[in-house]
Amino acid sequence: MAHKVGARVLLDCCQSVPNRPVDVQDLGADWIVASGHKMCGPTGCGFLWGRYDVLEEMTPFMGGGEMIEDVFISHSTYAPPPARFEAGTPAIAEAIGLGAACDYLSGLGMHRVHAYEQDLGAYLYDRLKSVDKVRIYGPPPSVPRSRASLCAFNVEGLHASDVAALLDQQGVAVRSGHHCTQPLHQYLDVPASARASLYIYNTRHEVDMFIDALGDSIKFFTDLNF
Ligand SMILES: Cc1ncc(COP(=O)(O)O)c(C=O)c1O
Repeated sequence: MAHKVGARVLLDCCQSVPNRPVDVQDLGADWIVASGHKMCGPTGCGFLWGRYDVLEEMTPFMGGGEMIEDVFISHSTYAPPPARFEAGTPAIAEAIGLGAACDYLSGLGMHRVHAYEQDLGAYLYDRLKSVDKVRIYGPPPSVPRSRASLCAFNVEGLHASDVAALLDQQGVAVRSGHHCTQPLHQYLDVPASARASLYIYNTRHEVDMFIDALGDSIKFFTDLNF
């Protein structure tokens, strides 16, 4: 639709590139971006991929070493992409680390990564939904392509941050808060939610540990008569 009216499309693929095969030619986007640290790479580094003809039309957004072609008193010309957009000394160590992360994930195979995560995510959902007083947000894993390998949830009568703090004391890290989606939490009419997120390094045993720790946390608060 965007292309039909002459607009360009940039896809934020921070949450898809680490978890599933992403084929830039299939997507048909003009640009895609992703973060290194969400795909086993270093922090402070990510990437922009762009269709070459689109990149060629774009002017540099920053000046510095290596992005210049020729300099005259009256004007300058710029190096072809991607050097045009890589002014100055780049984050060399981080880029090498990101390359290693790409090789690592490609070596595992993104279809396998996706299948593993989907299986583990469904296990998490099934175990969590059987915990008394827990409400999980979003559709069940049986709805195709509806759920990443995570569960955002709340425990009736408890604040998500209290649940997260108690889980933390038992060695289980879940995120709590609005997860950069304040309007969604307003819509759900909850101040916050907790979120257990899984990746390739997590196991069913860890999901079991989380469920046990959550049961203990709920019991702790119930015993206090909250
Ligand atoms: C879809 C999406 N885009 C962007 C970001 C931000 O990425 P970064 O931490 O590299 O700034 C996040 C982080 O949660 C994200 O989920």
